[in-house]
Amino acid sequence: MSYNPLSLTLCGVSLKNPVIAASGTFGFGHEYAEIMDVSRLGGISGKGLTLRGSAGNAGERICETPSGLLNSIGLENPGVKHFVEHEAAFLRSLGPAVLCNLGGHSEEDYLEGALQLNEADIDILELNISCPNVKAGGMAFGLLPETAADITRKVKAISRHPLMVKLSPNAPDLVSVARACEAAGADALSLVNTFLGMAIDVKRKKIVFDNVYAGLSGPAIRPIALRMVHQVAHAVQIPVVGMGGIATTEDALMFLMAGARAVQVGTMTFANPGAMLEIIDGLSAYCAQEQLCNLQEICGIL
Ligand SMILES: Cc1cc2nc3c(=O)[nH]c(=O)nc-3n(C[C@H](O)[C@H](O)[C@H](O)COP(=O)(O)O)c2cc1C
Repeated sequence: MSYNPLSLTLCGVSLKNPVIAASGTFGFGHEYAEIMDVSRLGGISGKGLTLRGSAGNAGERICETPSGLLNSIGLENPGVKHFVEHEAAFLRSLGPAVLCNLGGHSEEDYLEGALQLNEADIDILELNISCPNVKAGGMAFGLLPETAADITRKVKAISRHPLMVKLSPNAPDLVSVARACEAAGADALSLVNTFLGMAIDVKRKKIVFDNVYAGLSGPAIRPIALRMVHQVAHAVQIPVVGMGGIATTEDALMFLMAGARAVQVGTMTFANPGAMLEIIDGLSAYCAQEQLCNLQEICGIL
């Protein structure tokens, strides 16, 4: 087998490349497996789970914005038990590293969910303390260093999986939250989740989303996400996985140069399902062109 310059190790897990499907934009892989070679991805982060599952939010859930998307899905998901029994093995069979994204409405939800996920064959537990679209819990855990550290410490103590904490760009002091999660035992950080936004239907004089505010993603957020990844990557020692509007190879390279070890791609996959594969091909070409032994050589070079 020939040497692969895109390979890396993240939290002790081997990835064939640093391109990971972002949580909530790839389901559990079934639909995309029918239209693309998902085995080529570095990893897949499954839809965010909650302990008991959820039907998600009522009303409008998606609204297009200039270069982006507002979503108010509200963590619709089949629940941790269903994932363990019916989805984990399928995700594993696809080939990429398996990240399991866990959200919650309370501390008990997170802890019981993490305990049940000890039964699942996954590679990394991605702790979602940053979902803006649920009424209770979710992002509330990720806004302050104290609450973020507390839940990180408790989940780390009971989970057998490497722990990646997914941060909210809506935190008033993101760097302090990142440092607190690192000190509490996080093995890695991923950022950013969506930014709080809003849409108004002026014809009907109504707020578009029942939940009032919704999460903004896509290229519109990229420069802000890049700045945050740069700040956090320079503030912690643990690996950072960057995301927020990545659409092209150049975008992915920006996040890696800013200090991310890997990237996740979400919204762009809706517009172009082949985007992640194009980025992987582009990163291979970049390594050849720059004569890099391994792409990780450019991580954090700025
Ligand atoms: C429709 C939709 C659903 C999402 N669901 C989740 C989720 O369940 N858990 C999570 O941590 N992030 C979720 N996200 C956030 C993405 O994983 C990602 O952090 C964010 O969209 C920024 O990346 P992007 O601009 O490439 O989409 C969701 C995003 C979208 C657009």
